[in-house]
Amino acid sequence: MHLKLTQLEQAFNSSTLTRINDGLLDQYDVELWIKRDDLLHPVISGNKWRKLKYVLDDVLSSGLSTIVSMGGAYSNHLHALAYAGHALQLNTFGFIRGEQPEVLNPTLLEMRDWGMTLKFVSRVDYRSFRNTNPSSVIPDLAPHHYWLPEGGATILALKGVSELVHEIDMSYDTLCAPCGTGTTLAGIINASAQEIAVLGFSALKNSEYLTSDVKKLLISDGANWQIIRDYHFGGFAKVNDELMAFIENFEQRTSIPLDPIYTGKMMYGLYDLIKMQYFKPGHRIIALHTGGLQGKRGFGL
Ligand SMILES: Cc1ncc(COP(=O)(O)O)c(C=O)c1O
Repeated sequence: MHLKLTQLEQAFNSSTLTRINDGLLDQYDVELWIKRDDLLHPVISGNKWRKLKYVLDDVLSSGLSTIVSMGGAYSNHLHALAYAGHALQLNTFGFIRGEQPEVLNPTLLEMRDWGMTLKFVSRVDYRSFRNTNPSSVIPDLAPHHYWLPEGGATILALKGVSELVHEIDMSYDTLCAPCGTGTTLAGIINASAQEIAVLGFSALKNSEYLTSDVKKLLISDGANWQIIRDYHFGGFAKVNDELMAFIENFEQRTSIPLDPIYTGKMMYGLYDLIKMQYFKPGHRIIALHTGGLQGKRGFGL
């Protein structure tokens, strides 16, 4: 790995496994553990670091100096990328979905302060940037720029995600993760043993496409995985009082903060499945905390 990245990684904490003690879990005779990737780093936390690590290594090793990517106004991905660029002396350029607000929100302000060039694009243009050949549609994308797709969804992300699976040093039955692009889920499936069930919880409505997106990233499709689509709460970043109350209550009981976009929806869904006796008695579940807590600011939290 590139020396600069090794130096950056030295500032990281290890990701611990925390058991959730809860009467409800005892009642259904299941064990729930959380892999605290949110604790990895104050900014590049959770799956952000897992997905960016080998991308950053690739950029540094190729001698490139500019990374271009895209995301929403509260994007965890762009936020982490901007910080990484700042820490590694790389230029970063972010296409932001939607019109420029009169006042930049705290996420955008930090990204700008870390040196990311922000360019606001219409929702129509933004969608076209998801194109597989971005240089044909994205203005200013030069051959020496490193293009990183939305959410950091690249093959190189899978290698970083696999590391979190290999860190788990106890036996378990099911490993859960929230899904946006499905890249984290694919990395987990690739690295998981056949006997482990892998469950993805979609944060988006109408996410049927996720199954084929995940399949494209799999080394082999023999694994036991499934995407749960019942807990999107109306769509990406949509919430209701029940979800927000669940998150608050969970945090009070466990001292583990959740974000309303990804980890809160996963945990709500997981508890619901437990109550529906989806898991056999004696089952041990590990849920991945993918971080993203800075995004709570978009909800005034
Ligand atoms: C906190 C958090 N959790 C989960 C995800 C979903 O990850 P993926 O896009 O790899 O499915 C994201 C988006 O990258 C995220 O920011």
